[in-house]
Amino acid sequence: MTAILEPDAAQRGVLQAMLHGSVAFADPAGLDEHIRSAANEFAVVIGPSVASETAAELAQWARVHRPDLGVILLRYDVDSAALSLALRSGMREVVAARDLAGITTAVARARSVASAIGQTLLDEVQAAAQTARAEVAAEVAQAAAVAQAEADAPRGKVITVFSTKGGVGKSLVATNLGVALARGGHSTCLVDLDVNSGDVAIMLQLTPQRTINDLVGFNGVIDAEGIASILTHHSDNLMVVAAPVRLDSPDQASVDDIGKLLDALRAMVDFVVVDTSGVFDDNALCALDRSDLIVLVGTLDIPSLKALKLATSTLDMLNFPKATWKFVLNRADGKVGLTADEYEKTLALKADCSLVSSREVLAAVNRGEALVSAYPGHPNSKALVAFSKDVIETLGASAAGEGDPSSRKSSGSRLRLRRG
Ligand SMILES: Nc1ncnc2c1ncn2[C@@H]1O[C@H](COP(=O)(O)OP(=O)(O)OP(=O)(O)O)[C@@H](O)[C@H]1O
Ligand SMILES: [Mg+2]
Repeated sequence: MTAILEPDAAQRGVLQAMLHGSVAFADPAGLDEHIRSAANEFAVVIGPSVASETAAELAQWARVHRPDLGVILLRYDVDSAALSLALRSGMREVVAARDLAGITTAVARARSVASAIGQTLLDEVQAAAQTARAEVAAEVAQAAAVAQAEADAPRGKVITVFSTKGGVGKSLVATNLGVALARGGHSTCLVDLDVNSGDVAIMLQLTPQRTINDLVGFNGVIDAEGIASILTHHSDNLMVVAAPVRLDSPDQASVDDIGKLLDALRAMVDFVVVDTSGVFDDNALCALDRSDLIVLVGTLDIPSLKALKLATSTLDMLNFPKATWKFVLNRADGKVGLTADEYEKTLALKADCSLVSSREVLAAVNRGEALVSAYPGHPNSKALVAFSKDVIETLGASAAGEGDPSSRKSSGSRLRLRRG
């Protein structure tokens, strides 16, 4: 549509008759209101009686707010003043008022310019929408690829050996479980989180050059290369992250470092066996949080039962699922006026492994050998090896190496490769 602004009634009548389907206004206010409401307007013809200032104002407004609107200025004399006014204010054309053919041609040109602008805008909107759609599709595909990669990534299992009492046999169970898993062909890393008096290294006769506190030097970047540099080698399949050798070690690994260590180890080995200190501290919680299995250890006596009862109710309260717990009853043959049966009932847990008190346990510790290696025929060794198989079975075939000698080999050598 075309809008006309012309105060002179006769002139306005001529213009309106000439431009079919046009609307005409005598004053700028009427025109202004019309343009704001008619989005399909493509041309404004400013009649020859309209003052130059009014015409300039209108054209300047249109230049900013409606660039698709062609403003055509009609003047009785198309002189340099009219042309410069049109140029300054961004009018499309200046036509002599008597040049009727020129006026209709200018309006036709305004129509085609408006439709070209409209088409360009439409193309741009469609192109932008297409780009946005493509970006969303690419993001979805990337997220799916990341999720798939995470799902496909080898995922070692974390087993935390825990109790809230000292001296009950946690380190005995952790070291023997670690050695039994490794001897079964599974790459395993024992992590000694008893940072104040850990004795995993001593029990396995290892002399660690670097310990868990060396994580501090990594400044939070704890990756496979860094971890490999702090591991102490026990056998092809068994590594140890030892507890600090010196108690006055100035820098203690933070709980954040320990979390990153356990997460990274999952990708490096089949099993991460964590030995804890016997306290519900941040380090223990950090390991428990990441555990696929929690091995609770207690000895057959009232103080240990009381401590375990407290530990299990706390674990329950913290929503650690009972299905992920295993219970090892140590010194189950003790004659202390409390039967294993009563113990289990009070604790509401059946022992998954029972160990007897035996001199060989201490003898093996003194030799710096795991019981399962030093005395393979000992009832405790048999029970611990059977327990390690039960652990593997519980954790399922998802544990790399389970029942598959080729992948066992590759996961074991993956660890060895990263050592250097
Ligand atoms: N069944 C057993 N027969 C004989 N000695 C045992 C038995 N179980 C554990 N011990 C001995 O008891 C001591 C404590 O065992 P261990 O270090 O495994 O317990 P812990 O729970 O790790 O203790 P801590 O809380 O101090 O780390 C060790 O000297 C160990 O050899
Ligand atoms: Mg211990």
